Amino acid sequence: MRFIEFAALAALTVPIAARDNFDFRVNQPRRLVAIQRPSPNSITGHTIPLGRANTKVNSLSAGYLQAIRSGKHVDGVYTRLRNGTAELLSIGTGSAFLAPLSAGGESFDVVIDTGSSDTWLVNSQFTCVDPTDSEVIDESQCAFGPSYSLSSTAEQVPNRNFNISYADGERLNGEIITEDLTFAGITIENQTMGLVTVAGWYGDGTSSGLVGLAYASLTNQYSGSNPSADIAGLNIPYNPLLTSMFAQNLTAPIFSIALDRDNSQSAQAAGGVLAVGGIPNIPHGRFWASANISVVSIDALTGQPEYQFYAIQIDGWAVSKNWNASFDVAMTGNTKKTPLLHAPTYNVIVDSGTSLIYAPTDVAASLAAAFTPPATFSSSVGLYTVACNATVPLFGVTISKKVFYINPLDLIIDTGYGFCVTGVQDNGGGMTIIGDTFMRNVLTVFDVGAAQVRFSARQCQLTNGTITLGGKADYF
Ligand SMILES: *[C@@H]1O[C@H](CO)[C@@H](O)[C@H](O)[C@H]1NC(C)=O
Ligand SMILES: *[C@@H]1O[C@H](CO)[C@@H](O)[C@H](O)[C@H]1NC(C)=O
Ligand SMILES: *[C@@H]1O[C@H](CO)[C@@H](O)[C@H](O)[C@H]1NC(C)=O
Ligand SMILES: *[C@@H]1O[C@H](CO)[C@@H](O)[C@H](O)[C@H]1NC(C)=O
Ligand SMILES: *[C@@H]1O[C@H](CO)[C@@H](O)[C@H](O)[C@H]1NC(C)=O
Ligand SMILES: *[C@@H]1O[C@H](CO)[C@@H](O)[C@H](O)[C@H]1NC(C)=O
Ligand SMILES: *[C@@H]1O[C@H](CO)[C@@H](O)[C@H](O)[C@H]1NC(C)=O
Ligand SMILES: *[C@@H]1O[C@H](CO)[C@@H](O)[C@H](O)[C@H]1NC(C)=O
Repeated sequence: MRFIEFAALAALTVPIAARDNFDFRVNQPRRLVAIQRPSPNSITGHTIPLGRANTKVNSLSAGYLQAIRSGKHVDGVYTRLRNGTAELLSIGTGSAFLAPLSAGGESFDVVIDTGSSDTWLVNSQFTCVDPTDSEVIDESQCAFGPSYSLSSTAEQVPNRNFNISYADGERLNGEIITEDLTFAGITIENQTMGLVTVAGWYGDGTSSGLVGLAYASLTNQYSGSNPSADIAGLNIPYNPLLTSMFAQNLTAPIFSIALDRDNSQSAQAAGGVLAVGGIPNIPHGRFWASANISVVSIDALTGQPEYQFYAIQIDGWAVSKNWNASFDVAMTGNTKKTPLLHAPTYNVIVDSGTSLIYAPTDVAASLAAAFTPPATFSSSVGLYTVACNATVPLFGVTISKKVFYINPLDLIIDTGYGFCVTGVQDNGGGMTIIGDTFMRNVLTVFDVGAAQVRFSARQCQLTNGTITLGGKADYF
């Protein structure tokens, strides 16, 4: 099997300012090297509806980022909280998307994670352990959906083991197998994947495993059959699911995501669509803005877990109380136009698993002040809170000189606890992330082959069906 190494430069490890005495590091972002010209934005039928986990489960990648941001950890391990306050936290964190995966002809719901790379399913016989202390606990506590049994098309890979620790303390051990997998209507024969036999896992009662959409270098296959002998960094990389599809020329090397908005504003409500090899057949703007991808990997100094994220450089942020404002997108200094804030902003992570936008402190503060009445930072909640009936300012993210305006519906989020928070929060000096608040307003294409991300605006669909955003209807 061919292993595609997209990253040509070695990662330099540089510590960055840690908050709240917690240490993590961002490995110097690596510019991905384009291996081919951009693939066309053709409509593809290879789409999968994305559902949301109907529980308090949070996206792994988002949980990781958020845990690092907020410094929540247990015994040195960053954790995603999953009880009581988790519902509220999930607004700040994100919630997992689920999609169907067929293995050996049987269909399972799996978590879609853009921050990791392995595909795995839980075996029909497995041991559930408590992630915090490794005590064996009842299987039901791992809360998996239906389990997988080796099918006639599966084969165990001898002398290999699967060993992954997610940064929140969850961990999985098992075998490496090859199996015929169908994802988005595309079948890959003999795809390498993990078969989980020991799980320390906070399941959602629905999903039976996970598909990781990040790059191959993060796969977690190790030599031998003794997990205790596995050495971090000595993993044997293999082509993950999407990479295999691309490597075998089964589709163009792109995937795209369109997230839906729903009226309830619940963090766990609407899903969306993931398309492989093209874009889904949905209305979107005439213009595409593209940005080169760099890969940002982050790891906790206390452990080996490492996440990789797709990151881009953006021109800056458009903020105004005046809905007729015109922005100086090229930053020419034109005094008739409103300058962008924090221009440019580097290493902005595009992550569908994160609910909100985490913007640089000055941007978050300017936006908060532009609500009427202004949003204020609540130290008890750790987020900017705002009157649920506040007047929303004009807000957009500028990429490749195009402003992608955010629908007002995405800027005030009802927590369900009797108060509202803003859709754009302070990154506290940490990673800047454009999550669902942004992604609901665009069609996002990850062109892995050309190492770029492209965006096109989607209709600004208000709850009552009106398509409008002040005078800013320059979408089509
Ligand atoms: C929920 O999590 C918090 C924080 O980790 C913990 O203090 C509390 O005891 C937990 N509550 C329950 C009911 O498990
Ligand atoms: C998959 O593995 C089976 C059994 O080893 C083999 O017969 C088949 O040719 C393989 N298919 C591909 C596409 O490699
Ligand atoms: C492999 O699994 C064991 C047992 O869960 C764990 O203690 C160890 O940290 C893992 N090693 C790696 C490199 O993930
Ligand atoms: C994949 O398709 C491209 C373009 O059609 C072609 O140049 C290339 O040789 C193909 N690669 C394989 C492995 O079939
Ligand atoms: C993006 O990458 C391409 C190809 O490597 C390069 O030609 C282009 O200048 C880059 N664009 C920016 C804005 O860095
Ligand atoms: C914005 O433009 C509309 C229509 O041109 C006009 O009626 C309105 O007064 C303007 N608002 C401001 C704040 O300039
Ligand atoms: C907004 O809601 C508050 C109560 O939360 C109320 O006092 C105020 O009048 C409302 N403002 C408007 C403009 O509806
Ligand atoms: C829909 O909502 C918008 C904003 O709340 C309002 O301006 C518009 O008049 C409404 N349209 C209809 C048809 O009710």
